Amino acid sequence: MDKQNIIYLDRNENKYGPSPACLKELINFETVELSDYSRDFMRGIKSCLSEKLAAKYGVGEKNVILGYGGEDLLKQAVHCYIHKGDKIMIPSYSWWYYKKIADEVEGIKVEYPIKEGKDTFYYDIDGMCKVYQTSKPKLVLISSPNNPTGNRLEIAQLRQVLEIMKDTVVVLDEAYSLFFNGDNTHLKDLINKFPNLLIIRTFSKYHALAGLRIGFALIGENHVRFSLFSARYLGFNSISERVAIAALNSEEYYREVSKKMATDMEMFYNEFNNIPGFKAYRSFANFILVKIPSEIKSDLKNFLTNRGMIIKFMEEDGLNNHIRITIGTRDQNCLLIDLIKTFLKKNNL
Ligand SMILES: Cc1ncc(COP(=O)(O)O)c(C=O)c1O
Repeated sequence: MDKQNIIYLDRNENKYGPSPACLKELINFETVELSDYSRDFMRGIKSCLSEKLAAKYGVGEKNVILGYGGEDLLKQAVHCYIHKGDKIMIPSYSWWYYKKIADEVEGIKVEYPIKEGKDTFYYDIDGMCKVYQTSKPKLVLISSPNNPTGNRLEIAQLRQVLEIMKDTVVVLDEAYSLFFNGDNTHLKDLINKFPNLLIIRTFSKYHALAGLRIGFALIGENHVRFSLFSARYLGFNSISERVAIAALNSEEYYREVSKKMATDMEMFYNEFNNIPGFKAYRSFANFILVKIPSEIKSDLKNFLTNRGMIIKFMEEDGLNNHIRITIGTRDQNCLLIDLIKTFLKKNNL
């Protein structure tokens, strides 16, 4: 299989690519902008991007922290606040990386429940609050929408949880929030109301800039320590900043892309739920989780891999008969459905 023809629908990238304005920005980059440090600090700000994000979300520039993707900001938050023996609350099904960073600092991981409902996974709010009250963690990680389950907390539920946890550092990972929700008004309200809250977002997913490695955090007033911890005195990455600004200015392009994805999400949901033995769950992110019969798992994986179609076959406890599929372009999504149907037919299933 020619490497270039492999279709990767396994890491929740945006397969439509960034807006044309982002590419234009790269082409027009001046040499001096590469050879010199940024002078943005002379205006009392970290960067033109943090300034732009602050204006967009109606918060102070000091409430915006830039990082090398959401990954970097999550690591920074955990390394800043958690030390050996401190407790950190993590959703029972979550991005594996949360556990990894807790282990790096020898934190004690305390899981709280995400449960399987009729057609979606959901946060068990009562269970979550109980775990919080009994374990008294130093930091709580919440992911909304959550990877790999795709469920999210509605804003009212989020407020309810944050109210209970208001004396503790809460890191809210919103890496996937823009696909099914263009409304950002809650961000300002939440960080104003909850000074211990730290919200993480990224340009990797919705804006299709995963290779650029850029993300940001919006922080409440109590995060002075985190602010110092993450300070970069020589500026950030001017290429990433400029391209990210071009992405922020391309709202229409991304809206159109996410509309196409929403249509295909519905198509996946219906197609998979029509296959006997398969169960697809409602998702608010750019991926969908599907339960498959355990007996076909390894053959299906080989069949798809041999045809250059890579999706994520889950291995974690409780989700090991599941596949997680990134919503690709229309052609990629239709090809995947066709391949799975061909596999089932070939095996008389
Ligand atoms: C839940 C979640 N948060 C954050 C990230 C980090 O993305 P990035 O570091 O590219 O911003 C990912 C990546 O897959 C993710 O699944």
